[in-house]
Amino acid sequence: METDLIKRILVVGAGTMGHSLAQTFAQGGYPVALVDVSRKTLDRAASLIASNLRTLEDLKLLDREKGKEIIERIHPLTSLEEGARNADLAIEAVFEDPGAKEKLFERLETLCPSKTILASNTSYLNIFEFKTLKRLEKIIITHWYAPPHIIPLVDVVKGPRTSRETVETMKNLLTKLGKKPVIMDKFIPGFIVNRLQRALAREIFHLLDNGYSTAEDIDTAVKASLGIRIPILGVVQRYDFAGIDLAYQFMKNPSIHLVSEDKPSETVKKLVDRGHLGVKSGRGFYDYSGKKMEEIMRDRDIKLIKLKNFLEAI
Ligand SMILES: NC(=O)c1ccc[n+]([C@@H]2O[C@H](COP(=O)([O-])OP(=O)(O)OC[C@H]3O[C@@H](n4cnc5c(N)ncnc54)[C@H](O)[C@@H]3O)[C@@H](O)[C@H]2O)c1
Repeated sequence: METDLIKRILVVGAGTMGHSLAQTFAQGGYPVALVDVSRKTLDRAASLIASNLRTLEDLKLLDREKGKEIIERIHPLTSLEEGARNADLAIEAVFEDPGAKEKLFERLETLCPSKTILASNTSYLNIFEFKTLKRLEKIIITHWYAPPHIIPLVDVVKGPRTSRETVETMKNLLTKLGKKPVIMDKFIPGFIVNRLQRALAREIFHLLDNGYSTAEDIDTAVKASLGIRIPILGVVQRYDFAGIDLAYQFMKNPSIHLVSEDKPSETVKKLVDRGHLGVKSGRGFYDYSGKKMEEIMRDRDIKLIKLKNFLEAI
């Protein structure tokens, strides 16, 4: 399908990712059906979207009238039948659970017109192996990063039978929305960035679980070093500046063992057991009590937008 023929979007799941995905497409001028099984989640999504748009208005990146139009383009629904009926592109952002996703794809295959592209926002699951899939040339992964209305990267992952046309359509559409699509020709769980984050996570939790440092100090260390360097040099080009001979010597150094295993962290388990789940519960590694979620998101978003604009300018 040509990118211009994509007129209506369906987003399934209105949680952390779904509400912001719907906002991104609506900002790009597309009418969006936002479907969730929970009416409460849809109300929360509407409130988060309104708050996200107010932040853009306050930063003078959006005028109030445009903000209202964006909200009017988003149609919150609990009926998948209704949302799927006219969709040209359906993106699912439901729980990262293979059973839930496969069942949903089975319903989307039945409810969406045959022309509809079906995309998944999965982080790790090989959805291309689902037995219920029929339109294999129109199945694709588009993996966005939180918050999707701000972070530019979208991994566009091809399945064994996904057509070139579907990949091109998604690439063009995402570019039109101001995103930075990166094409992956075959599936690997976690794609590029989540794999790197996972590798980093092993070491973070090794340091925390064994009392080498605190959450605050680890964050300070990273923000004051990699945080400044990575936006300019990425993670590969930095070796050109450090000297590749030095990097090679470092790789052969037996004293630096990455000893942490890929197993659940004790520190994280303790937090989960106490109900300290992060921003959504008011406490995680840090304390957010006394602040509304909208307020916390707004503070993060203002900083991310300013930094993104600055990096684009340089
Ligand atoms: N949270 C992140 O930072 C992030 C980043 C990138 C990708 N992802 C991926 O995005 C997907 C969604 O993650 P999330 O964090 O937004 O989850 P979430 O738990 O915040 O939201 C999932 C939503 O899906 C709804 N839902 C579940 N089954 C449904 C169905 N059959 N029909 C309609 N709605 C249904 C739930 O009610 C819930 O509101 C996952 O696959 C996840 O791996 C998440």
